[in-house]
Amino acid sequence: MGKGSGYGKVILLGEHFVVHGAPGIVSAIDSTTDAEVKKAVKGINIRDERKTAKGYSEEKRLQQIESIERMLKTMGIDSKIGLDIWIGGTLPGFSGLGASAASSVAIARAIAQELGMLVSDKKINQVAYEAEKAYAGNPSGIDNTAATYGGLMWFKKDVAGGPDKIEKLHVRRPIEIVIGSTGKVANTKAMVEGVAERKKKNPAKYDAIFKQAENLAVAGRKALEAYDLKKVGDLMNENHRLLQEIGVSSKELDMLVDLARKQGAFGAKLTGGGGGGCMVALTPGKELQGKVLSSIKSLGFEVLSTKIGAERY
Ligand code: PMV
Repeated sequence: MGKGSGYGKVILLGEHFVVHGAPGIVSAIDSTTDAEVKKAVKGINIRDERKTAKGYSEEKRLQQIESIERMLKTMGIDSKIGLDIWIGGTLPGFSGLGASAASSVAIARAIAQELGMLVSDKKINQVAYEAEKAYAGNPSGIDNTAATYGGLMWFKKDVAGGPDKIEKLHVRRPIEIVIGSTGKVANTKAMVEGVAERKKKNPAKYDAIFKQAENLAVAGRKALEAYDLKKVGDLMNENHRLLQEIGVSSKELDMLVDLARKQGAFGAKLTGGGGGGCMVALTPGKELQGKVLSSIKSLGFEVLSTKIGAERY
């Protein structure tokens, strides 16, 4: 049997803008999607045992099948191969946490192991990027990169097709965060397409917003490296406003963002594709983290708490 894992992630700054070449800052989280793969007589037989938001697996099923077909092709494996694939792990299937990319990385690693193929991380990342096209249409590559390598990273897509810029970032101490799920499953592909359409229709407005997003990421990197967490929080708030302007937030996301800020979060924003999915709040220190977490939980939303910038994931 072959086994593999991929990290979940939160985007601290720059989702959607990264698709069009602006830089983004992403962090892996300490939850993974795990996969086990065994050769089978025929067919691709998937047993998906991840904890998910209601309707997640159904909404993603066709995209999941397409993603595996894309993976096999990129790995040079006959599409008629029979495989039993189990998917599980601690990363919940909530939209926005890179669950699709984490599962692609996990499955690609497990397939490679089962078939005795030696596949580098660079190749796994490329395979998962091709798989992400099934879920995101035109992905930036930020999710699969975080899922493959882990860590806190600066990511900039080369829109001309050259190698993306990926740099590991280091912070003085890991930083507590809280993730709240709206419980709503979002279609990343539709969200990414929506932004591209609106950008095309209104280039002047969107170019100005995209420039601001780029400046935010540059300032965010400096603030993180200087461990100026108030500044990082302010920039996350500003980033959320830009995401609202490009039409990817939602009533529930705005509500969770407001709630986290009222409880003292240094900053809060939607994370990932938006339109549902998750909110991330910067909550340095265990006490603040606990306060924000329980306020969200008390309203009946699912929450996760973790740290970014830890060296071990
Ligand atoms: O919602 P998720 O976890 O799939 O994150 C999508 C992030 C986007 O920036 C919206 C798309 C991308 O490929 O970068």
